[in-house]
This record gives sequence, structure tokens and C-alpha cells, in this order.
Amino acid sequence: MKRILVLGAGGQIGTELVPHLQNLYGSDNVIAADLKPEVVEKLGRTSRAVMLNALDIESYAKLLKNERIDSIYNLVALLSATGEKNPQLAWNLNMGALLNSLNLAKDFNCAVFTPSSIGAFGENTPHYKTPQDTVVRPNTIYGVCKVSGELLSDYYHTRFGVDARSVRFPGIISNGALPGGGTTDYAVEVFYEVIKHGRYTCEVPKDTYMDMLYMPDALEATTQLMEADPAKLVHRNSFNVTSMSFTPEQLFTEIKKRIPSFTWDYNVDPVKAQISASWPDCLDDSCAREEWGWNPKWGMDQMIDDMLAACKKKVEKNAQ
Ligand code: SER
Repeated sequence: MKRILVLGAGGQIGTELVPHLQNLYGSDNVIAADLKPEVVEKLGRTSRAVMLNALDIESYAKLLKNERIDSIYNLVALLSATGEKNPQLAWNLNMGALLNSLNLAKDFNCAVFTPSSIGAFGENTPHYKTPQDTVVRPNTIYGVCKVSGELLSDYYHTRFGVDARSVRFPGIISNGALPGGGTTDYAVEVFYEVIKHGRYTCEVPKDTYMDMLYMPDALEATTQLMEADPAKLVHRNSFNVTSMSFTPEQLFTEIKKRIPSFTWDYNVDPVKAQISASWPDCLDDSCAREEWGWNPKWGMDQMIDDMLAACKKKVEKNAQ
């Protein structure tokens, strides 16, 4: 029986991972934890929700014990663009939550999932079909945390037997909660802006390729990896996963085919330009495919159609 804790449950991934886990393992077995009271209140409408600061190890331990948790999904993170505004906070939060999760997982015998990211790569990484095992020398604090987190998670696995597993998420496109402070956020924001205002100003340069995943595939990757037969895992922290790669200009051109009145321009943010240029153009995710059967279902065209329909519905509902 799985007893699951989702940390940082109110964010872009958590908002959709909690119902996904509830469907798989039963609502009573999933606890959604977040730091902010208003977020916990909202989560509480559809799930068992608690307020928890992942840096407060005593409260965190108490919760694991009282709820007999055996699987931790640690989603606590400051993303790449926000991290550059406050590197110290990004380090303290991203690494603090992970270190506490790994130490407590060791004590309470829990499995741990922590997302890594394309942010783990840097300028010296091969950008085309970026291999699973390659140079990881990022130049953002977010990336430094991700690489450190991958190493730390593998260390806790080999040294203490903690069942730590992870994927390197690319940009995740979704229509639940908005992402916050990432370099790939443009690929979500544009859908809301096109529906609301018919236009969008993009902060990422027009010709920068980045990998993306649609949320249903991101959720599938998460639970599929956590269910995978450990004997088949050559890697653990962390697997490349992707399902599409495009530039802002390519995405906007495809949206315009569906909404001909859509217009856009660019006001490039130098930080986002530098970060996005340092990340891969497209990943090679063959290890994930071979070791645990990763097989994404959503391509760019279906994703765009689905996003436009879902965002339209959401914007119309909010306007009522
Ligand atoms: N979506 C993240 C970011 O842009 C990358 O993992 O920061």
C-alpha cells in the first residue's frame, strides 16, 4: 500500500500530480503539503492537505511518522529565472528541502522522487540530442542545485539504500496552475494571452530551441518511473525525458494557424536569453525509454489544440 506525501503541492506540477496520484493510489493515501496557508486551504477542497515547511525537519518527520508515509514527491523549488534574483534563497530552499527529504527517507524507509531539469545542463553540454551521461556544468543557481541534487540523490541510494529516482524535466506545458519564475514559462503564458488579448510579448529569443512536455506525459513519467522495476534501472538520478522541441517563433506560428488574428513580438529578457541559450536544443531520452518504458503520447499539434481549448474554457469561466 502506498502512503504518499507531495511537498510543494500547490505549484504547477503538484496541482496536477496530486489528483493523478489520488486516481492511482486512492485519495486517502495522498497528502498534499504546502507552505502557504491560502494554498493549503485551496488544496484542502479536493485532497487531504497540510501546511508544512520542508525546511522544518521536526514537523516534517512528525508528519511522515504519523501518516506512515512511504513515498515522498519533493516538488519544492525556486525555478531558474527567479533563482537568479536570489541565489542564496534558491540554494537554501532547493537543497534544504531535498536534503531533509533524503535524510528522512533514510530514517523512515521512504522512496523519493525529486524533479531534476534541463537546467542541469550548461553551455558546454552538447546541445543536439543531449546524451543521458554528458557534461553537466550549468551557469544558473537553479542548475547548480539540480546537479547537486542528482549527485546527492544517487549518493543516498548507493550509500544508504534510499530509493531515490528522478527525471530531468524540460519545460512543462499545462493548464492547471501557472508555472512561476521559469525560463520555459513563455510556452504556457502565451496560451492565456492569446485567448485574453490576442497578442503576446515574449521574453525568450525567437529562435531558441528548448525541449517541452505536456503535463499528462509529465505525470505519466513521474509515476511510471516510481513504479519501474529497480532491477532494470541502470540510471536513477536523473533521466532525460522529452516529447517535443521548438522555438517560440515556431510555437506562435502554429498557434496563428488556429487563431489567425494572433500577433506577437519580443522584448527579450537578457537573463532568460542567457539561460535558454545554455540549455539543450533537444534531449536524447533513449535511456528512459529502454530502462523503464518511457513513451510520451503528446506531440506539439495535439498539445496546442488541447491547450487552446482548455485555456479558453478557463478564461471564460473566470470571466463569469
Ligand atoms: N521549467 C524550468 C525553468 O524554466 C526548467 O526546468 O526554470
